[in-house]
Amino acid sequence: MARSGTAGVGLGLAGELRRHVQSFSDVFPAPEVRADERAGVRLFFAPGRVNLMGAHLDYNGGPVMPMAIDRGTFVALRARADRKLCLRSTLEGREAMFDLEGTAPERAGAWFDYPLGVLRQLRVPADRPGLDVLFGGNLPIGAGLSSSASICIATALALDQVWGLELGARRHVELALAAEREFVGVQCGIMDPYAIGLARPDQILWLDCKDRSTAHLPLDAARVCVAVADTGVRRELARGEFNRRVQETATAFELLAPHAPGASCLRDVPLEVLERFGAALEPAVRRRARHVIEEVRRTFEARAALQAGDLAGFGARMLAAHGSLRELYEVSVDELDVLVEASAKEPDVFGARLTGAGFGGCVAMLLRADAEPGTLERIADAFEARFARRPEIAVFGGDPGPREIPLADLQA
Ligand code: GLA
Repeated sequence: MARSGTAGVGLGLAGELRRHVQSFSDVFPAPEVRADERAGVRLFFAPGRVNLMGAHLDYNGGPVMPMAIDRGTFVALRARADRKLCLRSTLEGREAMFDLEGTAPERAGAWFDYPLGVLRQLRVPADRPGLDVLFGGNLPIGAGLSSSASICIATALALDQVWGLELGARRHVELALAAEREFVGVQCGIMDPYAIGLARPDQILWLDCKDRSTAHLPLDAARVCVAVADTGVRRELARGEFNRRVQETATAFELLAPHAPGASCLRDVPLEVLERFGAALEPAVRRRARHVIEEVRRTFEARAALQAGDLAGFGARMLAAHGSLRELYEVSVDELDVLVEASAKEPDVFGARLTGAGFGGCVAMLLRADAEPGTLERIADAFEARFARRPEIAVFGGDPGPREIPLADLQA
C-alpha cells in the first residue's frame, strides 16, 4: 500500500508544508526587503489521530489505543518588532490581533479560540517578542481525527519553542486539554491531546485514562498499516449527542456504584453488577453502560493480541467494537456501517471501526501492508453503490509526533 509517510516528513506532507511557508510569506510579507523572504520564519507540525480501540472510554476512566497520523496542523510564524500577536489561517478568513501587554482576549466563537485558549494559560516573559502566526493544515475538520487537539498542541509547541518557555510534552497536553474544556467549552475526554502530544513513530499509544499512565506499543509497519475512510458526513447534532453520552454514562455509574465497592468510574464496574442491578437503569442508559464495560474488556484483549503479534485477533476486536457502537452506544450512521461491512469482507483487512465520537466522520481500518491493490477500491465501490459518491480513503503509517520542521528539510 502506498502510504503517506512514516517518519520525518513524507513527500506529500513536505509539499504541503512548503506551500504553507509560501502562504506565510504572502500573508505576512517580510518587514523590510530581505534577500530571503523566509528569514526568521519557523514551522511546526502537530498530527491528528485515529483511535483504534477504546471507544468512548476516556471519559469513563478506561484504556484507549490511539495512533497519530501524518496529517495535521501547520503553524508558521515569525517574531514581530512589537508585542502584538496576529493569528491568521489559510483555512478561514477571520483573524485575531491583540497586544501581549493588554488584557487577555475573550472567546470569540471562532477558530482562533483554540490557540487563544492555549495562549491565555502561558506566562510570557516581558522580553519575548510579538508574533505573526499563520495556521493551516490538511486534517479534515470535524471528521473525528482530532483537528481541535491538533491545533492546540501545535500552538503549545510552537509558542514554547519560540519563546523558550521550556514546558515539555506533558505540559502541552495539559494546556491543550484546559484550552478545550475551560476556554472553548467542550467537555472532551483526555484521549486526543495525549494521543497527539505523546505520539511516537509507528507506535500505538496505550493510555489508561483512570490514572493517566501511558505506554507505547509498536505497530509492525512492515506487516500492517492504517487506512482512514472519510464518509464525508458531518453532523451538527454530534456535539449534543456526545455530551448526552457523557451524561448517560455518568448516570449509569451513579446508579451502579453502590453495588461495586471501590469503583471510582464506570470502567471499574464489573459486568455481573450491571447484569444484576441493571434493571434500575433506563434501557438506553443500560445499553451505554454495557458498551463501556465490554469495550474495556475488548481493549485489554486487543492489547494482548497486538503484543502477541495476532493482528487478526486485534482486528476482530475492532469489528466487535464497531458493532457495539452501532447497537449499544448508538453513535454510528449508515455510511460508517457500510464502510465497516465492506472492510470486513476483505481478506487483507484485519478490522475496521468508526473512530472519534461517531455520527459521521471516519472509519479506521487496519490492513496488511502488502494488501492486494484492489482492496480499498472495492470498499469505496461498496460505498458508492449505496450512496452514489466515492469516499476518500487514505493510507497512513503513523507520525513521529509534534515537532519543528526545519525549513531546510523542505527543499524540493
Ligand atoms: C471524541 C472525544 C474523545 C473521545 C472520543 C470517543 O473524539 O474528543 O475524547 O471521547 O470522542 O472515543
